[in-house]
Amino acid sequence: VPDLTRLRALPRAEVHAHLEGCFDAPLLEQWARRHGESMPRPVERLFEFQGLADFLEFLDWACGLVRTRDELAEAAYAFSRRMAASGTGYADLIFNPTHWHHWTARLPAMIDALDAGFRAAEQEGLPRVGLCVSLLRTQSAEAAVQVVDELVALRHPRVVALSIDGNEAAAGRTGPRFADAFRRAAAAGLRRTVHAGESSGPEGVRDAIELLGADRIDHGVRAIEDPSVVALLVERQIPLGICPSSNLVLKVYPSLAEHPIDRLRRAGVPVSINTDDPALLGTTLEREYALCAGAFGWSDEVLRDIARTSIDASFADARLKAELQ
Ligand code: ADE
Ligand code: ZN
Repeated sequence: VPDLTRLRALPRAEVHAHLEGCFDAPLLEQWARRHGESMPRPVERLFEFQGLADFLEFLDWACGLVRTRDELAEAAYAFSRRMAASGTGYADLIFNPTHWHHWTARLPAMIDALDAGFRAAEQEGLPRVGLCVSLLRTQSAEAAVQVVDELVALRHPRVVALSIDGNEAAAGRTGPRFADAFRRAAAAGLRRTVHAGESSGPEGVRDAIELLGADRIDHGVRAIEDPSVVALLVERQIPLGICPSSNLVLKVYPSLAEHPIDRLRRAGVPVSINTDDPALLGTTLEREYALCAGAFGWSDEVLRDIARTSIDASFADARLKAELQ
């Protein structure tokens, strides 16, 4: 197993991390105390989750603690610090406004505050971040279109993509509901990244490609259950943003031995390794690489190949990609 220091030096990007999953316990405690909110459970058990639904509810509580512009900027800055500590060269960061209850209907102000935090970080030499503004699977078609129209009108250079996350299992088949929102985003030049094949099966991955025009799939691992969906990913070379520990903690797979990342890679699917929600899941990017290398016996060449794929799969501009490789 390669050591963490060597993995930190491997040129790579992170393409699947959520701002909502980047608060550590001391920061959450500090915000809760400041705003007179009680903790949902003792701090030692704060990050124990029963599954995706329970986890998403926790995100609502955590993001509800962020009330001021400075706190939002601080969250963004803290993410950049976390990336730098992992040796990550660039990140596409998913941000879902629906979790942040004190900011309802203030999307431009949120993006402006986050951008201030990222700019401060970049001025200190910390890595560049692109923002993927996310819809929630359980929201309405009208609400989704409204978010996209707002993004298109805003044309903020920090925003690189439209995303969709949340619980697919709670809502049945929802691809058709979001087709219009994703079509509008594409027409305005936004890239598209779609959570699918985590709480949905391979049919969710197919819908992400065929109905939502996904440039990249977040998770996508359950594509393995349908060879025709694997073939589609290979044929179109659509990359997956895979998060191994997340899939174990949130009970998609019981162990890494049963995780399909290596089978997908061998089939020719472009796979990348990511953290999803690093603070809440207690992991880092270099640790995710190390866990997979250990479980699947990957050589340095395989690790380098996956790291290269992560940069290719990112929404960084062409010049930055060339610099990172
Ligand atoms: N939001 C944050 N993490 C998520 C995940 N793993 N799946 C769906 N939505 C999420
Ligand atoms: Zn995710």
